Amino acid sequence: MATIRFGDALRAGAEFSPRPRLPPEPWEKMWSRGLRPGDAFDVGGVSGALASYLKRTPRPPANSTALVPGCGRAYDALALARHGFDRVVAVDIAPTAVRAAQAFLEIHADGYDEGGPYYVQIEGTRFTKIEVYEVDFFEGREQFNFIWDCTFLCALDPALREAWARKQRDMLAEGGTLLTCVFPICEKVGGPPYALSVPLVTELLQPLGLEAVETRTCVGADRHLPGGAGGLGEGAGPGTALVAWKRKAA
Ligand SMILES: C[S@@+](CC[C@H](N)C(=O)[O-])C[C@H]1O[C@@H](n2cnc3c(N)ncnc32)[C@H](O)[C@@H]1O
Repeated sequence: MATIRFGDALRAGAEFSPRPRLPPEPWEKMWSRGLRPGDAFDVGGVSGALASYLKRTPRPPANSTALVPGCGRAYDALALARHGFDRVVAVDIAPTAVRAAQAFLEIHADGYDEGGPYYVQIEGTRFTKIEVYEVDFFEGREQFNFIWDCTFLCALDPALREAWARKQRDMLAEGGTLLTCVFPICEKVGGPPYALSVPLVTELLQPLGLEAVETRTCVGADRHLPGGAGGLGEGAGPGTALVAWKRKAA
C-alpha cells in the first residue's frame, strides 16, 4: 500500500500520535467478495444521519476541509463536497473500496481527472473537490476542519479505540468539528460492527480534551440505515446518535 499522507498539505512541526500495529485487515476480503450498494454496511447513498445534519447546518466558510475515514463508496464524501467543503479527503484501507468509491464518483461528481480529484459544482463557477486515497487512517498527518466518523469506529478492533481517539484529536484543526455517528447502538457482542454507545465514545474523547457540543438521537429517516441493519438488532434496528465534538479551549 502506498504511504500517502492524505495529500500534500502537511502541517509543519505538528505532533501526531504514532500509528498502532494493525492486526491483519479483513476488509479487503469483504470488499473483494463483491459488496454491492446496499449490502451489509453499505447504505446505498448518503447516510440519513449526515443528510439531516447538513440540512440544518450552514455552508462552511471558504477553504474548509473535511475528512471521511473508512469512506467505503464515498457517498458521504460527495454530500460533504456538495455542502460546500472545498476539499474533502476520503480514505479507505481496502483497495476494492477505493475503486468502488472512484467508480461511484466518476458517475456522480460533476467532473474529474483520471484517478481523481473529483469536482462538484456548488454555484456558478465555484467547484469543490474530493480526493480518494487508499491509505490507513492511522497514517494521517494532516488536520481538517471537519471529520465525519460514520461506522468507522464500530468497524475497528476495540484494542484500537484509544489510538482512534488520539488520532481524531490530532487531526482536528483548531475550531474544527468531529461529528461521530454513534452506531450501532444495540445489545450485541463481538463485531465488526462492534456495538457503540454515547457514553463509550465520550469515555474515549472527553479525557483528550474534546467536548460534546451537540448530542442528538436520530429517529426515522435521520437514522443511519445500512443495508444489513436488520441483522444487527431487534425490531426497528439499532439506534443511531450524532455527537458533535470540539476541542476545549486551552
Ligand atoms: C463499516 S465500513 C463503513 C464504510 C462507509 N463509512 C459506509 O458507511 O458505507 C468500514 C470501512 O472502513 C474501512 N477501514 C477499516 N479499517 C480502516 C483503516 N485502518 N483505515 C482506513 N479505512 C479502514 C473498511 O475497508 C471499510 O470500507
